[in-house]
Amino acid sequence: MNENIKVLAPAILTLEDKDYSLPTYIGVEGEKAIDITKLRSQTGYVTLDDGYGNTGACESAITYIDGEKGILRYRGYPIEELAAHSRFVEVAYLLLNGDLPNSDQLKHFSTHLNQSSIIHEDMHHFFSGFPRGSHPMGILATMVASLSTFYPIPEELDEATETQIVANLVSQVRTIAAFSYKKSIGEPLVYPSIKYKYTSNFLNMMFASPVRDYQLDPDIVDAIDMFLILHADHEQNCSTSSVRTAGSSLANVYAVITAGIAALWGPRHGGANQEVIKMLEQIHAEGGDGTEFINQAKDKDSGRRLMGFGHRVYKNFDPRAQVLKQHCDKLLNKPGVNDPLLDIARRLEEIALKDDYFISRKLYPNVDFYSGLILRAAGIPTNMFTVLFAIGRMPGWLAHWREMVHGDQVTIYRPRQIYMGETLRHYQDITQRT
Ligand code: ACO
Repeated sequence: MNENIKVLAPAILTLEDKDYSLPTYIGVEGEKAIDITKLRSQTGYVTLDDGYGNTGACESAITYIDGEKGILRYRGYPIEELAAHSRFVEVAYLLLNGDLPNSDQLKHFSTHLNQSSIIHEDMHHFFSGFPRGSHPMGILATMVASLSTFYPIPEELDEATETQIVANLVSQVRTIAAFSYKKSIGEPLVYPSIKYKYTSNFLNMMFASPVRDYQLDPDIVDAIDMFLILHADHEQNCSTSSVRTAGSSLANVYAVITAGIAALWGPRHGGANQEVIKMLEQIHAEGGDGTEFINQAKDKDSGRRLMGFGHRVYKNFDPRAQVLKQHCDKLLNKPGVNDPLLDIARRLEEIALKDDYFISRKLYPNVDFYSGLILRAAGIPTNMFTVLFAIGRMPGWLAHWREMVHGDQVTIYRPRQIYMGETLRHYQDITQRT
């Protein structure tokens, strides 16, 4: 147990007329927890917590969220301060190492990322093997998993090798992402270049071509860098929990990160920003003002949800959405940029924030509501949105993996269940079955 955790008076649980004493703790930000690690062995009971909404699966010192108050901090620093003053590479360093770097450390980290950006030349053949139109998330997951075959991990992982693997993943995810886009549009791959910084390098690999230089627009570079900062970590979300689950088996880190990418792909997690744009395009095509869509989202039988609204943890506002909304307004108000979807998004937000269905369920715009519009304004195609999220989340996933494997002990993640299937029955020969 972490030495900063304070022990409170034990909780008393009465089961079948017997009292059990359960240890209770309070974390550094006042989160209270009941320790049930011995519950089953002492009482024969397990807890039932579908979706783990009330389960603290680990102790962590990386990110703090207070969903009720709309607080998000990386290593203690408020997201608003990082968004205002920092860059993605610095935030990645912070998440991975625990403190903000001094200028030498930042320079060294940046150079290391830059030098690690090229993927093994033989991996390029893989890109030609994917069918045209393959979803870039499928390509990303495959390529990250295959890094393990090109850069095998030694049985005894020393610090220098681990640092190199982490740099590879943070840097190469961006190269693989850009290559998967180039593959999907049938253009030649553009290699990373030492002359660009992290985000500019990515945009150049995405949009330059042998017949076309790409003019970096500082507003777009800033907006994408901001997007990456805001997505860099979010404590025990679905993909990070998947990383920790896979990591707890001591699988190699490339496989572990692939588990995170797979979980991120879903429309209720990282795929939501893509779904937001689809929703806005549909409303635009139908010519409505969004009221009809909102009515459908309120009707459970329709199977629709207002994408970009609601969050498992934030029940007041999503601080990331507030930062992004400002950037969205700035980017989309630039001369020459005119996206009719922004007006639809604003209208949907206005209607939903006055509607009792959304108010009573505490459903507010989440980070995805505006991020899709920013990515669109930057020229990122919709099917790359979740890939951009994965680039941003990479330092967070790696920080959690590191925290876990370097902890006191790695306990394999293995939840229990309440079995509700058939009770014992015996095998019948096929001729006797009805
Ligand atoms: N539109 C309409 N109704 C909604 C929405 C929505 N976007 N989100 C939740 N609800 C309703 C549910 O139907 C439910 O109603 P009920 O109480 O009458 O049954 C209630 O609000 C609670 O919903 P849950 O699904 O239990 O809430 P939960 O906290 O588990 O889910 C989630 C959070 C998955 C994000 C959900 O709000 C959702 O599906 N939103 C749309 C998808 C989205 O934007 N995802 C991105 C999340 S942010 C991220 O991953 C970076």
